[in-house]
Amino acid sequence: MMHWLDRLSVVWLAAIPLAGCGPIDRAAADRLAATGELVALSGGDAGATNACIACHGIDGRGNGAGAPRLAGLDRGYQEAQLQAYADGRREHPEMQWIAKHLRPAQRQAVSAHYASLPFAAEARTMPAESPAARLYQGGDPARGLASCASCHGVRGEGLGPANPPLAGQPAAYIAEQLDRWRHSARRNDPQNVMLRISQQLSRPESAALADYAAALPGDPRRPAPLEASREARRGDPRNDASATPPRGAE
Ligand code: HEC
Ligand code: HEC
Repeated sequence: MMHWLDRLSVVWLAAIPLAGCGPIDRAAADRLAATGELVALSGGDAGATNACIACHGIDGRGNGAGAPRLAGLDRGYQEAQLQAYADGRREHPEMQWIAKHLRPAQRQAVSAHYASLPFAAEARTMPAESPAARLYQGGDPARGLASCASCHGVRGEGLGPANPPLAGQPAAYIAEQLDRWRHSARRNDPQNVMLRISQQLSRPESAALADYAAALPGDPRRPAPLEASREARRGDPRNDASATPPRGAE
């Protein structure tokens, strides 16, 4: 039997002609994102009260507080996060409940949808020089702390599919994640890189870094990473903590 979602998406797709439908793979990607849009709007099997747009916004910008930006985040990264919520490696009561109720196909589709949305960066400039700026951009060799920029990008744009952007994430969300890693309430990152880094940061440093990273301009030219996949994510050498960080010290 066809699930209601699949039925609905067929109707939805039939009703709205896809402008400039190109090659078949592009059409398939569009279809997946369109099905995902339906999940974002309806909450899928998690129900309408959990519609993603309620917290993450219709444009995927997040709510400026605890709910992060999803627009333009790699699809494989988002799927991995939903999986981590579902199996408890990433603790958060609401997202855990939601992720558990989404079927794998819905997780995949909704991740593709948000990944396909552009991150509308306003014309932002680099935040001012500060101790947090130096820590972000240069790390702290004395502590063996690699720079955040070596993985998350100088402009917070993210590097490759595995290292998510920090630009445009709410400062409160960034600070909260550093805190969760510190207390092992988030323990899903490859090689525990973020767990170790977070434990080396003082609370005031984490707070200042969160403000700084949130204010970074990102890369407005970055194309929507529809094609980025879980495979690409695995192959990213920066995912391997044993790789020498470009800057910072061991
Ligand atoms: C009630 C508000 C709420 C709703 C509804 C909601 N989310 Fe979330 N979401 C959050 C919050 C808050 C977080 C951050 C949780 C944390 O600190 O780990 C989050 C985190 C996430 C993340 C992790 C992003 C990252 O950068 O690591 C993903 C992916 C996500 N949500 C997807 C979804 C999807 C898909 C839906 C709809 C099916 C959804 N969310 C519905 C509040 C919500
Ligand atoms: C060696 C690479 C590396 C370095 C250095 C690094 N990160 Fe990360 N960071 C990652 C990876 C990989 C993830 C994604 C983890 C996952 O898959 O859950 C991540 C995730 C994050 C997230 C969560 C983003 C989200 O959307 O939920 C925050 C916040 C973060 N890092 C902050 C920092 C800060 C601040 C620094 C510098 C003090 C830093 N990172 C240094 C690799 C790195």
